[in-house]
Amino acid sequence: MKDIYEAVKVSDNVYWVGAIDWTVRDFHGYTTPHGSTYNAYLVMADDITLIDTVKAPFMDEMLSRIKSVVDPSKIKYIISNHSEMDHSGCLPEMIDLIKPQTVFASAVGVKTLKELFHRENEIIEVEDGETLNIGNMELTFMETRMIHWPDSMFTYLDKDELLFSQDAFGMHLATLERFADEIPAATLEYEGATYYANIVLPYSPIVLKVLEKVAKSGLKIKIIAPDHGPVWRKDIGWIIELYKKWASQKPTAKAVVVYATMWHSTEKMARAISEALAREGVKVKLLSMNETHRSEVVYEVLDAGALIVGSPTLNNNILPQMADVMTYLKGLRPANKIGAAFGSYGWSGESVKHLESILKEMKVEIAAESISVKNVPDSGVLEKCHELGKTIAAELLKRAGAN
Ligand code: FEO
Repeated sequence: MKDIYEAVKVSDNVYWVGAIDWTVRDFHGYTTPHGSTYNAYLVMADDITLIDTVKAPFMDEMLSRIKSVVDPSKIKYIISNHSEMDHSGCLPEMIDLIKPQTVFASAVGVKTLKELFHRENEIIEVEDGETLNIGNMELTFMETRMIHWPDSMFTYLDKDELLFSQDAFGMHLATLERFADEIPAATLEYEGATYYANIVLPYSPIVLKVLEKVAKSGLKIKIIAPDHGPVWRKDIGWIIELYKKWASQKPTAKAVVVYATMWHSTEKMARAISEALAREGVKVKLLSMNETHRSEVVYEVLDAGALIVGSPTLNNNILPQMADVMTYLKGLRPANKIGAAFGSYGWSGESVKHLESILKEMKVEIAAESISVKNVPDSGVLEKCHELGKTIAAELLKRAGAN
């Protein structure tokens, strides 16, 4: 029987030889309900080159796809664009198996791979802008430090005008379609934004610099081949513009109200705030952490101008669901937001103070006086919540209008 896995031709000289992970549901806290792919690429130059590998348990699938094009022992070079283990997990085994002449990585990549695998294999470091002749074509390396690891780099193939972009421009989406133009645009935008928000967001200022660097490099790019999700071969400007938009984080007239509740008091406040925001013309996303995953929250926060957070007091603190999402959000460093805090309490009432303090640490500008209520909010308190919503809306519309 013919092997069930085959390579997919991406361009004249490049094949996708990655793996599809239909069942993965978690990436270090980021939920991936639609699975993922680990993309590796085979460059069929005179000196055959493999760009990245796959997560360790998927090595056989990658090997099988490589074999559909060429005997794996003919691979001369392996390039590690990114040493995170979803792309390097089977690298040591691949080195043992195919014995490539050379493995290349960025300077930090060389160190990181040693720290990850504690192996004696020599890995050669390449510098930003350095080129590698692979016979009838050439690869150029471009450091993209902190997108999203210190080791990260892009590799450009001149002959096919193709950029191997590792995690950048990727998404966690398991599909048998290999190209973005085979997938609905709404799916691409949602999955791409979710990936950006959960992985790339803290490095947005660097993203803008790298996009500028790539534009200034004069490299003609026809195809972008990331390490997750589909390959971009048509209208690559569409995803580049989205990256510019996501990285810029300009405030929009959208507010995200995130809360957790014990006996529905904080929920009543959240709903009153949301109703007022919407009445003033602000788009609102109301998310209960009793039911929502943190990954969905950060997706919604990505293009919002306001973050309003609520929690009742539990044991002198906030509810654990809120502690979870606030820790996650703080780490992802969303920028240019205004916000406020609210919540109910039974006796001590520290939750709002804690939430405000976290918002300040996140550099969210407190734009309305926070509200704390003992036990169940009455109509007067709900009126105050309405006022909070109106105050945030007025400031938000002013800021969004300025863009
Ligand atoms: Fe897909 Fe940062 O690894």
